Amino acid sequence: MPITNDRFLRACRRESVDCTPVWYLRQAGRYQPEYRAIREKYSLLDICRIPELTTEVTLLAVEQLGVDAAIIFSDIMVPVMGIGVPVYLKENVGPVLDQPLRSEADIAALRSLDPEADVPYVLEATRQLVAALTVPLIGFAGAPFTLASYLVEGGPSREYKHTKALMYSNPRAWHQLMDKLAQLVIAHLRAQVRAGASAVQVFDSWMGALSPDDHREYVLPAMQRIFAETADLGVPRIYFGANTGGLLEQMYSTGAEVIGLDWHIDLDAGWARLPGVAVQGNLDPAALKAPWPELQRRAKAILDRAGGRPGHIFNVGHGITPDVPVDAVVRLTEFVHEYSRRAPV
Ligand code: CP3
Repeated sequence: MPITNDRFLRACRRESVDCTPVWYLRQAGRYQPEYRAIREKYSLLDICRIPELTTEVTLLAVEQLGVDAAIIFSDIMVPVMGIGVPVYLKENVGPVLDQPLRSEADIAALRSLDPEADVPYVLEATRQLVAALTVPLIGFAGAPFTLASYLVEGGPSREYKHTKALMYSNPRAWHQLMDKLAQLVIAHLRAQVRAGASAVQVFDSWMGALSPDDHREYVLPAMQRIFAETADLGVPRIYFGANTGGLLEQMYSTGAEVIGLDWHIDLDAGWARLPGVAVQGNLDPAALKAPWPELQRRAKAILDRAGGRPGHIFNVGHGITPDVPVDAVVRLTEFVHEYSRRAPV
């Protein structure tokens, strides 16, 4: 269906909007009883690989929450599995590998992604969603550092010891890994836009583990390449990371149209360091569990810091957790729309 609600895309382009657009990181997931019911019958990977299920779960979030954008239900590891790397998605843990990639030979063996052949279900679901939606669809990919952290650690991590050890001890192999993953990300994003996605988001969830110098040397070149090689797509590109207070200028240097801010920084202070781009954020997802007056106060504070300036997309600073009540998310979406409603221009 045609997009009848384009306030998300308008905000990405920093155009005037009738009210602040809202969507949520991990807006589809276990906090929804309907999602849990589907998960009783199907694995997470089934939902990612069966386009009808992907479409159902993606639409469920949009319809239930009244948000202004859809994000395709998938996982950052899906294209990595698509090139044959044996990753599992372990219940309540996340992506896991029995044999982490640690040697030059492991990295050299990674092949390139051919999205039409390797992840056709993502593209089929994208087409189905574009046909069904009246809000824009966001396609996405994990960024090379965050992907590499799972591949090299073998699972989720706090300290990224093996990842940093590889980076520091064998920079040549590390850069080869970043290059290969950047290529995979570019191919995956380009294919989703060709299939109809209206915007894309790159998730570098764990980039905040790096010092600014390490990020500049070991990660930024791959990120700059991703944004350079997707610029011609003509769709807004959102660059998301967490704990990025020391890295905002580097994120800005990539040319992303929208930068995600998490709750470790005041929205206006972060935005002041990002002239000419749109920002997305930045509610602490834990606030979704607070009593309504508290949640409302926090949402208001974010909107007041944005001050009605064009180019703010309301979101959480990181994903919605399974213990959040659906009603709180619905009520918050309504509140953001109402509180930010502007006189027609
Ligand atoms: O609605 C949406 O946001 C789209 C769905 C989505 C998923 N994963 C589904 C999923 C998106 C955008 C992702 C991206 C993703 N996956 C990221 C980047 C975003 C972020 O949160 O930082 C990362 C780091 C991953 C890796 C990953 N996959 C983790 C850490 C987990 C959670 C482990 C757990 O069980 O808590 C997963 C599994 C996963 N991917 C779930 C969902 C909804 C968990 C729910 C389930 O098992 O059904």
